[in-house]
Amino acid sequence: MPQPVYRIENLVHQYNSHPVLAVDRLEIQPASIVGLVGPNGSGKSTLLKLMAFILRPTGGRILFDGVPTLPFDKSVRFQVTLLTQDPYLMKRTVFKNIAYGLNVRGNREDRPGSVCDALAMVGLDPHVFVQRQWDELSGGEAQRVALAARLVLKPRVLLLDEPTASVDAASSELIRSASLHARSELGTTLVIASHDREWLYDVCDKVIHLFKGKLVGTGRSNMIFGPWIPEEGGLYAKLLGNGTRLVVSAPPNVDATAFIDPAAIRILDNGAAATPANTVFVEGTVTRLALERQSGKLFADVRAGSLTLVVQVEEFHLASTTLHQGRPVTLAYQPESIRWQ
Ligand SMILES: Nc1ncnc2c1ncn2[C@@H]1O[C@H](COP(=O)(O)OP(=O)(O)O)[C@@H](O)[C@H]1O
Ligand SMILES: [Mg+2]
Repeated sequence: MPQPVYRIENLVHQYNSHPVLAVDRLEIQPASIVGLVGPNGSGKSTLLKLMAFILRPTGGRILFDGVPTLPFDKSVRFQVTLLTQDPYLMKRTVFKNIAYGLNVRGNREDRPGSVCDALAMVGLDPHVFVQRQWDELSGGEAQRVALAARLVLKPRVLLLDEPTASVDAASSELIRSASLHARSELGTTLVIASHDREWLYDVCDKVIHLFKGKLVGTGRSNMIFGPWIPEEGGLYAKLLGNGTRLVVSAPPNVDATAFIDPAAIRILDNGAAATPANTVFVEGTVTRLALERQSGKLFADVRAGSLTLVVQVEEFHLASTTLHQGRPVTLAYQPESIRWQ
């Protein structure tokens, strides 16, 4: 294993004595693309600011290239760049916005060439865009100009906070390809926070879940909130409407959050093999099938009442053509496979 770019140790952050982040350990490998997913307020933006060294942590430390690094340290200033959620464009042309960072760094290389390369990387035709003013851009174009203004710096690390939050599908796809391009052409390491799970799974090698400031796992996961209602036999359930219930093991408290691994849920086929005695079932409808580009695995979103569960589709289903959008299915899982937070 090469030296990780980041090594986070016992990192803690509080705002006004209110704890919002506690990451015991996290390593980010060079030239990897890592996603951060989690509900609003789970600490994604805070973690990115700490990794950008623009926020002083309450406790713990971050090693950059193996060296403990403090906020605002000059040694990392030109290596790490953060694209915030609502990036700010200066009231100037696109060219000046993108060249600005090069000027600040006293970079004397061919500026027009670099600016055009950066524009092309985010799918904007340099001939059309270099002389555009900041207020002659759509939301998606403005976001991509802001990204180009970071890419032109050829950063070692690019941190993106909700880069697709306010852009259309075409811009999302261009931001995806620019991110992959930055990694392959510049060797950039990327950490991307997003609530757009499908987009994130498509671009990242690894997706990390943040929940209430803690890392709660990696990969696709079902996160299901309480309240949980007692059932017979020591089990509990969530009511999903129309008489549909999701049965779970005993939660630590009635408002706890349940996590179910998509690989722990099976889609039952007609005449499927017998299931163990403790299996529980829930009826649903396939609403979407998604192929994860990085792993080649197929995932189904299954709507059960008010809840959508993501299920990893087993190989034998891949060979059959019976699974399609709109098909009613029975899901089966063991309540014991649920993890609680
Ligand atoms: N500057 C701040 N001052 C006080 N509280 C903050 C500040 N920024 C974020 N928070 C709080 O910290 C928690 C984590 O926020 P944030 O990191 O923005 O989460 P996310 O990006 O996942 O939505 C939230 O409860 C938020 O209200
Ligand atoms: Mg945020």
